[in-house]
Amino acid sequence: MSTREIVICSVLPYANGPLHLGHMVGFLQADFWARFLRLQGHTVWHVSGDDAHGTPIMLHAEKEGLTPEALIAQIKTLHERDFADFNIGFDNFHTTHSSENKQLTEEIYLRLKDNHYIFQKTIKQAFDPEKNMFLPDRYVKGECPRCHAQDQYGDNCEACGATYSPTDLINPKSALSGATPIEKESTHFFFDLPQFEDMLRTFLASGHLQTEVRNKLNEWFAAGLHPWDISRDAPYFGFEIPGEVDKYFYVWLDAPIGYMASLLNLSLRNPLLNFPEIWHKDSKVELHHFIGKDIIYFHGLFWPAVLYGCGYRLPNSIFANGFLTINGYKMSKSRGTFIKARTYLDHLNPEYLRYYFATKLSHNIDDLDFHTDDFIARVNSDLVGKFVNIASRCAKIINGTFDSQLSSSLLQPEMFNHFVTKGKQIAELYEHRDFSKAMREIMNLADEANQMIDAQKPWALVKDQNTVARAQDVCTLALNLFRQLMIYLKPVLPQLAAKSEDFFAIAPQTWDDSEKPLLNHRINTYEPLLQRIDTLKVNAMMDAEQQPIPTPATLKDAKPEITIDDFNKIDLRVATVISAEAVEGADKLIKLSVELDGHVRQIFAGIKSAYAPEALIGQQVIVVANLKPRQMRFGLSEGMVLCASGDEKLYIVQPQQPIDTGTVVR
Ligand code: MSP
Ligand code: ZN
Repeated sequence: MSTREIVICSVLPYANGPLHLGHMVGFLQADFWARFLRLQGHTVWHVSGDDAHGTPIMLHAEKEGLTPEALIAQIKTLHERDFADFNIGFDNFHTTHSSENKQLTEEIYLRLKDNHYIFQKTIKQAFDPEKNMFLPDRYVKGECPRCHAQDQYGDNCEACGATYSPTDLINPKSALSGATPIEKESTHFFFDLPQFEDMLRTFLASGHLQTEVRNKLNEWFAAGLHPWDISRDAPYFGFEIPGEVDKYFYVWLDAPIGYMASLLNLSLRNPLLNFPEIWHKDSKVELHHFIGKDIIYFHGLFWPAVLYGCGYRLPNSIFANGFLTINGYKMSKSRGTFIKARTYLDHLNPEYLRYYFATKLSHNIDDLDFHTDDFIARVNSDLVGKFVNIASRCAKIINGTFDSQLSSSLLQPEMFNHFVTKGKQIAELYEHRDFSKAMREIMNLADEANQMIDAQKPWALVKDQNTVARAQDVCTLALNLFRQLMIYLKPVLPQLAAKSEDFFAIAPQTWDDSEKPLLNHRINTYEPLLQRIDTLKVNAMMDAEQQPIPTPATLKDAKPEITIDDFNKIDLRVATVISAEAVEGADKLIKLSVELDGHVRQIFAGIKSAYAPEALIGQQVIVVANLKPRQMRFGLSEGMVLCASGDEKLYIVQPQQPIDTGTVVR
């Protein structure tokens, strides 16, 4: 097998907040692949960096009273710590706010311009007259022009799914200042994507993309390619466009160039990395991208077109991962399912998550779930119960009875060779990034090893002088099988592998070492390699992300807490308003007659400020039916109509019609 030179680009996370478990999916997947390829003897450059530019980061820094530079420096330190603690072995983690990226972005822009792929056009955009800045779509909010839902973003409505531009919103407001945005003209720079249609079609057909990714890109083709606005007006945190005044490159132009910048920066320290050779259009170096499925558009269309437009090579693959949910829910802070990478690390061993993700990752872009019970079960039963168990069962016998010495021959060489053959299949699965299948194969082999031990019963063999030698052979075989599996798991579990290498007293293993048995060798004393997951720690991690439940005392004009028993005393009934009239001499009161279970009752309700009496006739209301009747100045009130306050207004509470019309509502 000839060795390859492979560049792996992991997506660049925004320098705008902490990493969460969803982020880790893509980085871990890339790390498994990088480590596997290195074990196979290939040269791998795995790079990433922070994506540091754009309006949200600029505004975030402003809110914190920091310069953007200070904010992104702080966040980079946090990100790097998380990556290191999850054992993600980047060769370089750089930033898009770097001299290398500035230089490369300018070069690329000028090349594209020389090659006539850039044009200017004046466009109209929402502008905040108070903040004195153009507003990205997300920073304009208002009423949806289609369904009239309030408080919708300027690009699409979350209630009805309509897409539009901010100027279509009814009563638009700047999310920054609350001011009504005005429309203002500005000249923008566009990258002429439609010129690349043929080239992109060929790229798509080249077979280096997952089927689902290809399908998505084809949908966008069918919808038609559009020129891409690559400029933004000041104020903006980014790189200024050379030769222009107050114009900046849009963050999504310089972000993917950040992959190059990270490599360029690495090449300054590492003479083995030939930067120009990587990007040459006939490059032999492989280039692979690992991204989340939400940014396929940028990596599948713009990025290849930008590279091609400069005369550079194209990626060999763009590999997308699905989205992580937590116990079946989207990651959300209010729901308590936004689990930060750091929170995980505060409670649990990173290798548990590495293994769990590996068992869930396949070649498609389906979403995957971090299910806490499943997580605990998988790790405890597979990793500890099956895999580590092989070593712990047999090591003690070798340590205790045989002075830590392994036998000098293999009891069943055919079993060892069977594991070698299976190792070749497992390598194929890794190569194709079918991590879950690889894990399944490995655990099947662990089952086979345990069955062998169960059948041979070395713990019984040691007790008899006639069979004690065989016990050594059985345990030597078992430990050799364990070592093979350890090598197969090494891309996923580098820490466990290192500990196992210490236990075996052997040098760091490569993939090929799995073909050679370890015989006539003295091992170290066995120490437990991995603990089972403690459920309490998982619960503590989940609890740490729970948002405090607002106590009633934090509500305005709150009443004292009541118990469910207090509440159960209230008899709530649906009633229909038969008549309603204003009460002479009382500003606030309306006199209602309501029909309730075939009886008519009279109720005085203080709701005149909110409702005209005639509007209430025929309406269904909810009545507290067991409220003690009260003699008022105007007559007897026999109950109470439920109202609630919100937005400083008063609302009658009305029953929602049940979906099943056969259900009788009292
Ligand atoms: N900065 C851009 C990428 C620029 S690449 C030139 C970005 N950053 S991000 O911080 O929002 O996301 C980083 C990665 O995390 C993306 O690949 C995104 O798809 C991924 N994920 C974010 N949430 C995720 C989940 N819940 N699950 C899986 N991946 C998730 O996008
Ligand atoms: Zn709508």
